[in-house]
Amino acid sequence: MPISPVLERQSTYPFVRLNEAAARVEASGVTVLDFGMGDPRESTDPLIREALVDGLRDRMGYPAAVGLPELRQAIASWAGHRFGVALDPATEIVPTLGSKEAIFSFAQIAVDLERGKDTVAYTEPGYPVYERGALFAHARPLALPLYEQHGFLPDLDAIDAATWSRLAVFWVNYPNNPTCAVAPIGFYERLAELAREHDFVLASDEAYTELWFEEPPASALQLDDRTNVAVFNTLSKRSSMTGYRSGFVAGDPDIVAALKAFRPTVGTAPQEFVQRASVVAWGDESHVERTRALYARKRALFLDLFERKDLRVAGSEATMYLWLAVPAGQTSEGFAERLLEHGILVAPGSYLGAAGEGYFRLALVPSEEECARAVEILEEVL
Ligand SMILES: Cc1ncc(COP(=O)(O)O)c(C=O)c1O
Repeated sequence: MPISPVLERQSTYPFVRLNEAAARVEASGVTVLDFGMGDPRESTDPLIREALVDGLRDRMGYPAAVGLPELRQAIASWAGHRFGVALDPATEIVPTLGSKEAIFSFAQIAVDLERGKDTVAYTEPGYPVYERGALFAHARPLALPLYEQHGFLPDLDAIDAATWSRLAVFWVNYPNNPTCAVAPIGFYERLAELAREHDFVLASDEAYTELWFEEPPASALQLDDRTNVAVFNTLSKRSSMTGYRSGFVAGDPDIVAALKAFRPTVGTAPQEFVQRASVVAWGDESHVERTRALYARKRALFLDLFERKDLRVAGSEATMYLWLAVPAGQTSEGFAERLLEHGILVAPGSYLGAAGEGYFRLALVPSEEECARAVEILEEVL
C-alpha cells in the first residue's frame, strides 16, 4: 500500500522508545518507577467524574464542532478570573479534544505555501507535535534552541528578516515542557508585535499555566491586542484529565473562525458528556489547588535530595517536571540508562531535542509514596 513519505521518515515517538527500554528492564526483574512521561496519575476529582456520568443520555448525537455554549462560557469565565481578560464565548473560543490534535493540525489552517508562508517555528527541547504537525502540512520546520543562559527563551534577535517573512506559525510553550521556564508578559508582547508586523500566528501552548509553585504564570491571553494570537490550553494537566481529551483554543476571532471552518471536516469535537464534565472542571479551583499542593510536596522531596547530592536543578519554576543537569562528563542518554538500571525511568533531555543534551527531565507523576522510594534509591545511586 502507498504510505506518506512524511510518515515513513518519522522517527519513533520518543516516549515509545522510553517505554520499550523500561519494559526490557522490567523483564529482567527490576521494578521500574516511571518518571518518564507527563501523564498525571492522580484520580480525577469526583465532582468532575459525576458530571461526566450525568452527561450521558439515551442518545448522543454528533457533537457540534463549535462546542456547547455552556462550555465556551465556562472557559471564558475561567479566563476572566485567572487572567483578568474578557473573552467573547461566541467568537474567541473553540473547544478541542485536548490540545494535541489542535496543535498537530494547526499548521494546516495557517501555512500558505503559495504565498511563501511556509515556515513553522518552535522551540527545542520541546513537545514533538509542533514539528510533526508542520511536516504533515508540508511546511518547513524551524527548531529554535532554548539555552539556559538565555532563560530558556528563544533568541528572537538571531532570526533574520527573510525567515520572519516566511513564518506562518511561531510556537511557544510557557511554562515550558521540559525546561520548567516561565515567560514574562513582555516576551509575549514583543512576539505578538512581530506576529502582526510579519503576519504570522503567535501560537502559545499554555498546557501548564496552572501548575506553578510561587507566582501564577502569565498568558498570551493577557495581551491588549490579540490580533494574530492563538492560545491553547487543556484540562489534562490542570485537572488530571488526560483521558477525557478536553481543551480549547482562544484568541483572535479570525483564527477562531478559521478553526470553526476547519474542524467539522476533521470531526474533532469532544463528546458532549466530556464537555459537561469540562464545564465543572473549569468552574472549580479547589481541586487545582490540591493538585498544585501535591506537586509542590513531591518537588520539595527531590529538590532537597538534589541539593544534598550537588545535582544542579536547571529548571523547577512551574509545570509537573524538574529539569536537571546531568553530572559533568556524562551524556543525557547514558545517565538516564544508568538510572533505569536501578529502576528509575526519566526522560533524557536529548530525546526532547538537540539542545536538551546535558539534561534530563523528571516528571513528578508517581505517587508520593513512590517518590519517597525513588529518593531512597537515588540516595544510593547518585
Ligand atoms: C507542552 C505540551 N503541550 C500540549 C500537550 C498536550 O496535552 P493534551 O493533548 O493532553 O491536552 C502536552 C502533553 O504532554 C504538552 O506537554
